[in-house]
Amino acid sequence: MQAIDLPKPQTALGRPLMQVLKDRSSTREFSPEKLPLQVLSNLLWAAFGLNRPDSGKRTAPSAKNWQEIDIHVATSEGLYLFDAKDHRLQPILPQDIRAMTGGQPYVKDAPVNLVYVADHSKMGDAKSEVNALYSGADTGLISQNVYLFRASERLATVVRALIDRPALAKTMKLRPEQMITIAQSVGYPKK
Ligand SMILES: Cc1cc2nc3c(=O)[nH]c(=O)nc-3n(C[C@H](O)[C@H](O)[C@H](O)COP(=O)(O)O)c2cc1C
Repeated sequence: MQAIDLPKPQTALGRPLMQVLKDRSSTREFSPEKLPLQVLSNLLWAAFGLNRPDSGKRTAPSAKNWQEIDIHVATSEGLYLFDAKDHRLQPILPQDIRAMTGGQPYVKDAPVNLVYVADHSKMGDAKSEVNALYSGADTGLISQNVYLFRASERLATVVRALIDRPALAKTMKLRPEQMITIAQSVGYPKK
């Protein structure tokens, strides 16, 4: 399993914001069609990519600029970690774990399941309940970027809290300080 260099994100794309907001919604029926690498690249950049390389800042805000949310990308080829700095996918596991990223039957059909993982070791010495609050808020901001991208590109997405977190954390071999916040399925709508 190798790292995947994502193509440069196409930042001149997109429908007008107000139309995108009109179309923002959750979809739970996915076509098995895969997302082209360029679309995945655009999606991940929109989600939490580097938009100000000089300062290392990103398309979504984060508490104290901790940038503690790591996006794990589950596809039929395996599990990857989105490396925003180099805009690439780092290999994590060679297995298709999509079905394990949620408790609902449609989850396995989505070509991409994003798993948002908060790394509490990046969060200074804040108390853990504060960490949980901040990492939930920070994940929500990323997730909404994905919703807006999906509405602009006429894809399908749904954010999901219904996850067997202990089982998924074990499969993903997460460290104790890493916490799964939510997951999000993305693909093309079922025809
Ligand atoms: C924090 C959060 C957790 C959610 N968890 C699930 C879930 O586990 N499964 C699911 O099918 N939808 C889930 N949803 C999607 C909501 O059900 C959906 O946003 C809501 O019904 C409103 O529909 P809309 O997004 O189309 O406006 C979740 C949404 C949020 C914000």
